[in-house]
Amino acid sequence: MARLTAILLLIFTFTSHLTEVVAFPAYGSLAGLSEEELAMIIPTLEISKGPPPDIHAKPDNIGVPVLVNDANHPYVPPGPDDIRGPCPGLNTLANHGYLPHDGVASPKQIMNGVMTGFNMGADIAAVVVFAAHLADGNLLTDKLSIGGPRDGSRGLNYHGTFEGDVSMTRGDAYFGDNHSFNETLFQKMQDEADPFFNTFNIRSAATHRFKRIKDGISGNPKFAFNHIRYPAGYAESVFTYLLFRHPWTPLPAVKMDVIRTFFQDGKMPDGFHRAPLPIGMLEIAAEVVLLWAQYPIVLPGHNVDGINTYRPDLTSPSLITWCWIYGDFVKNTVVKLYPNPSGQLRSALKRNLVYFHLPFAAVGCPPLFPYGLPLSEDEGLLDQAEVKGVVDQIQAPVSSGWSSTRVWDALVRTMTCWA
Ligand code: HEM
Ligand SMILES: *[C@@H]1O[C@H](CO)[C@@H](O)[C@H](O)[C@H]1NC(C)=O
Ligand SMILES: *[C@@H]1O[C@H](CO)[C@@H](O)[C@H](O)[C@H]1NC(C)=O
Repeated sequence: MARLTAILLLIFTFTSHLTEVVAFPAYGSLAGLSEEELAMIIPTLEISKGPPPDIHAKPDNIGVPVLVNDANHPYVPPGPDDIRGPCPGLNTLANHGYLPHDGVASPKQIMNGVMTGFNMGADIAAVVVFAAHLADGNLLTDKLSIGGPRDGSRGLNYHGTFEGDVSMTRGDAYFGDNHSFNETLFQKMQDEADPFFNTFNIRSAATHRFKRIKDGISGNPKFAFNHIRYPAGYAESVFTYLLFRHPWTPLPAVKMDVIRTFFQDGKMPDGFHRAPLPIGMLEIAAEVVLLWAQYPIVLPGHNVDGINTYRPDLTSPSLITWCWIYGDFVKNTVVKLYPNPSGQLRSALKRNLVYFHLPFAAVGCPPLFPYGLPLSEDEGLLDQAEVKGVVDQIQAPVSSGWSSTRVWDALVRTMTCWA
C-alpha cells in the first residue's frame, strides 16, 4: 500500500511537473530560475541563435518620407491571445503587421520593425532591443514578448528591469497596473499641449516628464528613477514627438489626437509617413539633453525611505554617458538577473552581451565580459570583418551629417521655448 502511494505520488508529481514544463512559454525569461527548474525547462525549448545586429543598416528610400500606414499594413487590433505591453511604438508595429501580430518576436524582427515602421536608427534600435532582450527575453529561443507576463513568465512589462516608474501614460507598478493606458495620465499630457495648435512638443514633453517625476516623489514610497530607467524615461519622452511626428510638420510636434491613437490603440493615423532620416543615438542624445535642460534639477535617484525622500543616486549613470549606461546595465541589471549561469544559457548570455556592446563599440566604449571571453561563434565571437566594420565607424555614427542640423534646430527651439 505504501509502495502504491509512493508510485502514485511519483506519477502525480511527474505529470504535474510535466504540465508546468509544457506550459513554459518560448518567450519567457529564464532569469531567476533555479538549476532544477532550468534543467526541466531547457529541454522543452526550441533553441535558436540570433545573428549579430547590423548597427549601420539603413532603410531604403533614405531622405524620403515613406508611407508606412499603407495597404500592406492595415490596422488589425489585437485578439484575446495577442500580447501587448507598455510600449506604444511596439504595440503599434504589432497591430500594423511590422511585428508578428501575437506580440512575440526575435530581436532581429524588432530591429527591422522599428527601422521600417518608424525609421529609428539601427544603433539606438540595437541598444534598446538587446537591453530589453537581456532583461526580459528568452535568450535560448531568441524570443521576446512585447508585454506579458501572462502566465507567471516575464516579458517587457516586468517591473524593475526595463519597465519602470513615471511612464507618461502608464501607472507605476506600486499602484497596481503598470502597463495599461491610463486616461487620467493622458489628460495630464493634454494639459501640457500647446494650447494654440493642440500639439505635444519638446516643451510639453519636458513639463509632463518633470511633473510625473514630482508625482512619483510625493506619491510612491517605492519610487525609483535610476539606472537604465533614467535615460530610458527621457528617451521615451523624446520618441513621442520625434517618432510619432508627421514628417511635414515644420517643427517636431504631434497633434494630441494622433498621440492618443498611438498610445491608446497602438494605431497609426491615416496617411502616416515615417521619419525621412534615421533617428539614431546622436539625435536622441542631443534631444534628450535639451529636454532635460528645461528642468535641469532632476538627477537619477529614488525615494530612500517613503514618500518625499528622493535622494540622488551617485552610482547611477547620467543621460548620454553611453559607456556608463552600458557598464551599469551589464553589471547592475544583467549580472544581477543571472548571477551564476551555466551551460547553454551562459553561452547565450555571452553572445547577447557581445551584440548589445556593438552600438556602444561604435561610440568608443570598451567591452565588458562578466561571464568570460566569448570563445566560439556560439558565444558571440564575431568574425574580424564584423568587428572591423564597427571599429572603422567609431565616433562616426549612422547619421552624423544630419545631427549637426538637428542639434542646431533643437537649440533654436529650446531658446524659443525659454524666451
Ligand atoms: C526598439 C525596440 C523598443 C523596445 C524594446 C521598447 C521598449 C519599451 C518599454 C519596455 C517601455 C516601457 C518603459 C516604461 O514606461 O516603464 C517603452 C515605453 C515607450 N516606448 Fe518603447 N521600445 C522600443 C521602441 C520604441 C519605438 C520605435 C517607439 C516610438 C516610435 C517607442 C516609444 C515609446 C514611448 C513613447 C514609451 C513611453 C510610454 C509611456 O510612458 O506611457 N518605443 N518602450
Ligand atoms: C504589472 O502589472 C500587472 C498587471 O496589472 C501585474 O500582474 C504585475 O504583477 C505588475 N508587475 C509588478 C511587478 O508590479
Ligand atoms: C490612473 O492614474 C491615476 C493617477 O495616477 C490613478 O489615480 C488611477 O487609479 C489610475 N487608473 C487606473 C484605471 O489604473
